[in-house]
Amino acid sequence: MKTFNILAAAAVLGLFGTAFSAQAYDGDWKRGRIYYRSVCTSCHVAMPVGAINPSTKTKAEWAAYLKADKHAKGKDTVKQYVSKAYRASIKSGNKAAEKFANVPDQELLDDLAAFLKKGAKDGDSPASCS
Ligand code: HEC
Repeated sequence: MKTFNILAAAAVLGLFGTAFSAQAYDGDWKRGRIYYRSVCTSCHVAMPVGAINPSTKTKAEWAAYLKADKHAKGKDTVKQYVSKAYRASIKSGNKAAEKFANVPDQELLDDLAAFLKKGAKDGDSPASCS
């Protein structure tokens, strides 16, 4: 019975997965928060730039920042740090990267955007990095 339930649940999730991917994906801010804190912040605090609180920018500023996709004054991109390739490269030492190893890039980027919007200076719940 237990096995059957698990299989049934997996089938239902599978169906939902398909249904969702057909529509626009709604960013999961909780997943975005985990990723931001575990991946983005863990690098920032190790660098001279230091922690970057989501509440240092407004919603509009974050939206423009993500759209421009110029990270570290244009040296690289934000997308690169959300990519599967980047997650794979750090997953041995980073739990969030390991946990979200197979999430499609665009979904994780939407999750991150949802968290930054919520955590922005003028967002629903201005957030720090930790
Ligand atoms: C491997 C290290 C590293 C990772 C991972 C990283 N950053 Fe950064 N980030 C930096 C450094 C270094 C700077 C400062 C660049 C400078 O001032 O020259 C920076 C700067 C920034 C800034 C300030 C504006 C800018 O671009 O200069 C923002 C915002 C930012 N990062 C967002 C993010 C987000 C969002 C992620 C995760 C998706 C992320 N960073 C992942 C190293 C990293």
